Amino acid sequence: MTEGWTWTGSDRYDPERERLVEALCTLGNGRFATRGSAPECTAGPAHYPGTYLAGCYDRLTSVVEGERIENEDLVNLPNWTLLRYRCLPDDAPPGAWLTPDSDSLRTYGVQLDLRAGVLARRLFYRDDRGLGLRVSHLRVVHMGDPRLAVQRTAFRAYGWSGVVEVESVLDGDVTNAGVERYRHLDGRHLVDHRTGFEQDGIGWLTCRTVDPGIRVALAVRTVTRPVCPARKDATRTGTVQTYRLPVGPRRSATVVKTMALRTSLDRPATDPFAEAVDAAARAPAFSRLLSTHRACWHRLWEQGELRVPGEAGRILRLHLFHVFQTLSPNTADLDVGVPARGLHGEAYRGHVFWDELFVLPYLTVHFPEVARALLMYRHRRLPAARAAARRAGGRGAVYPWQSASSGREETQTLHLNPRSGRWLPDHSHLQRHVGSAVALNAWRYAQATGDRGFLHSAGAEILLEVARHWAGAATYDAAHDRYRLRGVMGPDEYHDAYPDATNPGIDDNAYTNATAAWVLARGLDLLGELPDARRAELTERLAVDDEERARWEEVSHRLYVPFHRGVVSQFEGYGDLAELDWDAYRNRYGDIRRLDRILEAEGDTVNRYQASKQADTLMLGYLFRPAELHGLFARLGYALDEETWRATVAYYLRRTSHGSTLSSLVHGWVLTRQKGADAWRYCEEALLADVADVQGGTTGEGIHLGAMAGTVDLVERGITGLEAGPEGLRIAPVALREVPRFAFSLCVLGHRGVRLRMLPGRLAIRVPESSLGPLAVVLPEGRRIALSPGEERWFRM
Ligand code: BGC
Repeated sequence: MTEGWTWTGSDRYDPERERLVEALCTLGNGRFATRGSAPECTAGPAHYPGTYLAGCYDRLTSVVEGERIENEDLVNLPNWTLLRYRCLPDDAPPGAWLTPDSDSLRTYGVQLDLRAGVLARRLFYRDDRGLGLRVSHLRVVHMGDPRLAVQRTAFRAYGWSGVVEVESVLDGDVTNAGVERYRHLDGRHLVDHRTGFEQDGIGWLTCRTVDPGIRVALAVRTVTRPVCPARKDATRTGTVQTYRLPVGPRRSATVVKTMALRTSLDRPATDPFAEAVDAAARAPAFSRLLSTHRACWHRLWEQGELRVPGEAGRILRLHLFHVFQTLSPNTADLDVGVPARGLHGEAYRGHVFWDELFVLPYLTVHFPEVARALLMYRHRRLPAARAAARRAGGRGAVYPWQSASSGREETQTLHLNPRSGRWLPDHSHLQRHVGSAVALNAWRYAQATGDRGFLHSAGAEILLEVARHWAGAATYDAAHDRYRLRGVMGPDEYHDAYPDATNPGIDDNAYTNATAAWVLARGLDLLGELPDARRAELTERLAVDDEERARWEEVSHRLYVPFHRGVVSQFEGYGDLAELDWDAYRNRYGDIRRLDRILEAEGDTVNRYQASKQADTLMLGYLFRPAELHGLFARLGYALDEETWRATVAYYLRRTSHGSTLSSLVHGWVLTRQKGADAWRYCEEALLADVADVQGGTTGEGIHLGAMAGTVDLVERGITGLEAGPEGLRIAPVALREVPRFAFSLCVLGHRGVRLRMLPGRLAIRVPESSLGPLAVVLPEGRRIALSPGEERWFRM
C-alpha cells in the first residue's frame, strides 16, 4: 500500500490553526521531540516552538490564590530551529524580516512524510515590488542517532538578485508558556545560561534546570551553500550567526543547522557541553543524516505498521507515527514513563498517568523491549510508591495519579476552571486505580512475551506490592458482610465527592474494586507459580506471610461491588444522584464535554448528577473479555450475566459526556466487541480526537497518546479479539463493517513477525521461519491448533 504516507498539516497559513499544526507535525525520536513550528517564529499567540526531552522535568514553586503550589514540568528546552531571513536586493532597498505572518506571504504548506519521518514546510513570498522568494525547510529529528536533529532550508529568488541575509539562532530565552491555563505558574525552568562558539561554526549554549539542576547543552553547526563567512554574536541566552547568501537567477542558497542535545541525564555520564559540541562537529552531512534516518524509519514501520485501507488507515498511520515520536526503540534505554500528551506540548506538564494502560498493549506486541523499559520506570519508583502507602497509613505500594521524575505524587492540589476563573481543590490523586493499571500492564506484558525473568523479579514486586495495598486498604463492613474501598475516585473525574460531603472521595467504585480483586487474584496466582527458591526469597524480602496471603484470598472474594436497578453502579450511591437534563444542557451550551466546568461556573456541581466524564464501569469491558469478566464477578460472588452487562453499557452510554479522548476509545472498543450498532460512531470519534481536535483546542497543547495508541490497538486486538498468553495466541474476531480488512505483524511468545491478515469473513496467521517450536492458536470455540514456523493458515470467521 503506497497511498496515505503524506500528512498535510496545512496547505494555507491560518494562524488560528498553527498550534494544532505544530502539535500534529511534531518530530521526535523517543528521546526528544520538537514541535512542528515555523522556524521563523518565536513564541507568540500563533506560534509555540517547543523542544522536550523525555524525563527532563523541573520543579518550581508559584504562589496562586495565596497558596504556594509546586509544579514539576517537562521542560521546554532552547529553540534550536530559529532561522530569520530577509532579502537584500542589489538594486532596491532591503526587505523586512520574513515570517508566515508577513503580508507578502503568498503560499504556505506543511507536510509530514510519515514513511521517512521528515517535516517539510514551503513558503512563497512576493512583495509589492514583485520580488519573490521561495523558502523550503526540511526537518528531521534523527531516529538512529537520538542526540541529533537537522534542519535544511533552501532559498530561491524570483525576479531579483542580491543577497538573502540569514540569522541562524540558538535561542535559550524560552519558558514553559504553552498552556494558557498554567499562566499563573512560574515557567522559567532554565537558568545559568552560557553561550559561545567553537571552531567549525558551532554555536553552543549550556544551562541548567532550577531543581534538580539538570545540565543541558545544545550545539548547533550551521553550514551554508555557497560557503560564506558568518558574523557571530553570543548573547546572554543564545547565539546568532549571520550570513549573507548571494541568490539570483539559477543561484539558490541553502542553510543546514545540525543540532546535538546532551544533558546530565544521559548515560554514561559525561560532560554534556563537550559531548554536544563533539556530536555536532562529527555529525554527517545532511544527505547522509537523511538516509540513515530513513533506514531507521523503514525498520520501525516493518515492526510496527498496521495496514488499513482508506481514511481510517491514514489516520491510524499518523497515530502510530506519533507513538513512535514519543516512544521508540531509543526509549528502551531511558528511565521514562508514558507522557499522556506525548513529547508534543506542555498539557498536563508532561506527566505520566494511567494512560499507559492504552499504550502498552500495542508496544508489548510490537516493541516488547520498549514496553519492558516503561514498566521498569514504574519499578524504579516502587520505593516512592511504598513510601506513599506508608504515609497514607497503609502497606504495599500506592502509585501516584500523576508521576514525573521521582515517582512522588505530582497531581496539582488546585486547578483552574477557565470558564469561571475560579481555582478549585483538585482531588484526582484519589484515583488509586492507577496502581492496578501498572500491575495489570506488568502481568499482561509477561503473558504476551513469555518474559518470566521480568515477571518473577520486577513484575512480581510491582504486582505483590499493589495487591498488598488493596488488601490493607479494604475495610470490613459487617452490614454488607463485604470489604469496601472508601474515599477513592474512579476513572470518571467528575465525581470526586458525594454531594454536600465535607470529605472528598466516593466509596466502592466498581472499576477500582473489580480491578483490585483481579490484582489480588493474580498476586496469589503468581505466588503459586514462582519457582520455590524465588518464592521463598521474595516472600521473605517483602515479608508476605501465610496470614497475609489468607487475607488476600479473603478480600479478593469479598470486595463489594454495588448494583442498582439491574446495572453495576459506578459507585455506591451513583443511582441515587439526580438525573441531568442532557438535552437542555446540549441545547444551551452545544459542546458539553466539560460539563464539570459548565456546572461549576453555574454555581452547581457535577457531583450531584448521574453524569460521567468518561468510561468508568465500562472500562471493565475494555480490559476483560466477557468470560474473564464473568469469572471475576463470580469470584466476588456476583452473577454478571450478559443481560446485566448489556444493560450496564446502555445505562452509562446515556450518562457520559466524553470529556476525555479515552472515553470514545473505550466505548468504541466495548461496542465493537458486543457488535453494538453505534460502535463505529465512537471509534470514529476516537480516530478524529486529535486530527479534528474534538476536545476544542487541547491538541495544540499536546496530542493524546492514549487515544492514538489505543485506536491502533482497537483494530489489532479489539477487532481480532487477540490475546497472547501461556496457552498461545487466542483469537475471537468480530466484524467491524467500516474496517473489514487490515494486516499487521506482531511479536508473541518469542516469535517475531507473526503476520495477521483480516479479510471479510477470513483471517490468516503466518508464523515466520525460526528455530522455535510451533505457536499454539486458540480459536473462538476453544479449538486449539499449532502453527509451525514457516506455516500459514486461514480461518473462516
Ligand atoms: C482523563 C484521564 C487521563 C488524563 C491524561 C484526563 O482528562 O480524565 O483519564 O489519564 O486526562 O490523559
